Amino acid sequence: MLKEKILKILLENVGIFISGEALATANSVSRNAVWKAVSSLKKDGYKIASAHNRGYCLLDGSDVLSKTAVLRFLDNKNTEVFVFEELDSTNSEAKRSVSKGISSPTLIIADSQTSGRGRLGRSFYSPCSTGVYFSYVYKPANGIASGVAVTSAAAVAVCRAIKEVAGLNAGIKWVNDIYIDGKKVCGILCEAITELNSQTAQCIIVGIGINVSTENFPDDLKVKAGSLKARNVDRNRLAASVINHLEMLIEGLEKRTFIEEYRRLSLVLGKPITYIKNGVETQAAAVGVDNDGGLIVRLSDGTETTLSSGEISVRI
Ligand code: BTN
Repeated sequence: MLKEKILKILLENVGIFISGEALATANSVSRNAVWKAVSSLKKDGYKIASAHNRGYCLLDGSDVLSKTAVLRFLDNKNTEVFVFEELDSTNSEAKRSVSKGISSPTLIIADSQTSGRGRLGRSFYSPCSTGVYFSYVYKPANGIASGVAVTSAAAVAVCRAIKEVAGLNAGIKWVNDIYIDGKKVCGILCEAITELNSQTAQCIIVGIGINVSTENFPDDLKVKAGSLKARNVDRNRLAASVINHLEMLIEGLEKRTFIEEYRRLSLVLGKPITYIKNGVETQAAAVGVDNDGGLIVRLSDGTETTLSSGEISVRI
């Protein structure tokens, strides 16, 4: 599509004027066709300056999510990318796509979600333009076994990407909430689609929501939720960076290459925590993370137990 081809050229030359003639020649189309494509990009929200005799220039800070922009930053160019202005939930869309049959890996991104889903049946606040919400769908090489640790791998991938793209140090609250300065800036929801007969995971869906510049949270979230507070972060690059790191970590999933890093990034190790199991609230100390990402806690009588799911309370 001409629009995408022109966008690709402009993205590769942010801040530089490219003449209408050059864009037309590069794509074997008329200058009028170039003008129409540029007008359409402007309607999508791209800030493009046009000047007589100089051509078109994509201005820095056009933070529009697009397939072309995401693919530019993705290492694996074979990833199928779908970008939506609005979805109910990228995880739900991923599930629908799997049942229709999609190629693997696939990345589904939305600018906003009307029913973003969180863990334990909660919702995930997903307003437009200020966050990035995406689901990565892949077929695990070793069935469900490799699905267990992917949640912790995703948390490490997000921390790496936030450091790489926004220059910020993020930490992980077990299992996989990402915090900066005491506020949750990202949530991760991993889901598996299993085949009934073999009980192996046909597909894993890793859903990630990052608050990039979100400021006005609803009252019930204000105390806990925060954002990267970064206005100059390219959301296309951030999402792509998470996926680049995630793909690398998934390759080494069986060897748990990321677990040491997960432990280093943990905000709970060494701290007193509270957890609820079978309706009983228990105080304990978080003392370790096992190779599957389970949290090892020490109880007041000195015995240790490993939590493999659920949620803990901890002062961060
Ligand atoms: C949590 O904090 O409990 C997990 C939140 C996960 C939110 C992401 S946003 C993209 C993907 N689609 C969803 O509906 N949820 C996940």
